[in-house]
Amino acid sequence: MNITLLPGDGIGPEITAVTKTLLQAVASRYGLPLAMEEAPMGGAAIAACGEPLPAETLRRCRAADGVLLAAIGDPQYDRLPRQQRPESGLLALRAGLNLFANLRPVKVIPSLLGASSLKPEVVSGVDLLVVRELTGGIYFGQPKGRIGSGSEERAFNTMTYGAVEVDRIAAMAFRLAGQRRQRLCSVDKANVLDVSQLWRERVERMASAYPDVTVEHMYVDNAAMQLIRQPRRFDVLLTGNLFGDILSDEAAMLSGSIGLLPSASLGDGGPGLFEPVHGSAPDIAGRDRANPLAMVLSAAMMLRLGLGQERAATALEAAVDQVLKAGFRTPDMMAEGCVAVGCAGMGDHLLAALDHPVADMDARETSTGSSQAAP
Ligand code: IPM
Ligand code: MG
Repeated sequence: MNITLLPGDGIGPEITAVTKTLLQAVASRYGLPLAMEEAPMGGAAIAACGEPLPAETLRRCRAADGVLLAAIGDPQYDRLPRQQRPESGLLALRAGLNLFANLRPVKVIPSLLGASSLKPEVVSGVDLLVVRELTGGIYFGQPKGRIGSGSEERAFNTMTYGAVEVDRIAAMAFRLAGQRRQRLCSVDKANVLDVSQLWRERVERMASAYPDVTVEHMYVDNAAMQLIRQPRRFDVLLTGNLFGDILSDEAAMLSGSIGLLPSASLGDGGPGLFEPVHGSAPDIAGRDRANPLAMVLSAAMMLRLGLGQERAATALEAAVDQVLKAGFRTPDMMAEGCVAVGCAGMGDHLLAALDHPVADMDARETSTGSSQAAP
């Protein structure tokens, strides 16, 4: 099981260090032959190699069984032409690995209910999954560009989807909805956009193949409203690339801390890319204030979806649950009565929780009586 680690920029290296230690710990506990190798990406790669996604990094990602990315983005490169910025490296990595499906689960954890900017009664019990198309739509559509100059200058992008592109992401969303609460909400702007009309028709067509899944279609503006009005109504949200970018940030806020949300990007057959939803947070980089939990949960998604290691994935998730229940909080989640910890300290508590699970899913562990660890 070869993992390519991309620590990237800002808080990336700190949260990578924590995650790597935890992965080593679960690997030895479950006897997984994990080999991890780091490669430069984003601003770190611009500094080292002059480009955000060096060919060698892409090669190593393609050759891996899973790719785990921390975060990219560095303000010192914000004024570079767009093609040379760290973000372009991420888009090239998604395209280069053909990662057409981006899965962003948002689950509100009871012990963090107070952290949301929305009322607890609105967000309590939220458990939804955004399935965002990731390699098409307006992000990659042709033609695009700028023509003319001065007051005559124009710029344009093209929002385009082919039937096959809609079908493959829709099939993924239907399958995932089938494994969850069997509700699929497809988001579009079919009252205005041709591309959305095709999107809606293809989703509608596929519905008959998944009779257990209830499908609804929602305009994106309404979806943005319903997400904060009645977020519990959603199970799986299927969206195109741009709408998914926007709605997944909005959905992230339901949980109170974007520092908790993992994501998985999958293609057909090749290695998946697993990364936190949050960015590189340059303002707190290097100060031991970062929240490593989203990356740890991304590593759990990698174990489950990329490597088929359900038990190891569950163990990591249980460790995260346990430290949160015990009241340990990085500054972004800090609340009254909780215990403030830094990024590395959070890592230590996670390791301890892994070693002494309170209620391990694995019966052999519970029978060893190691269930008194958490305060
Ligand atoms: C995301 C980010 C990226 C996107 C940026 C960094 C290119 O916002 O993963 O949601 O727009 O897809
Ligand atoms: Mg985004």
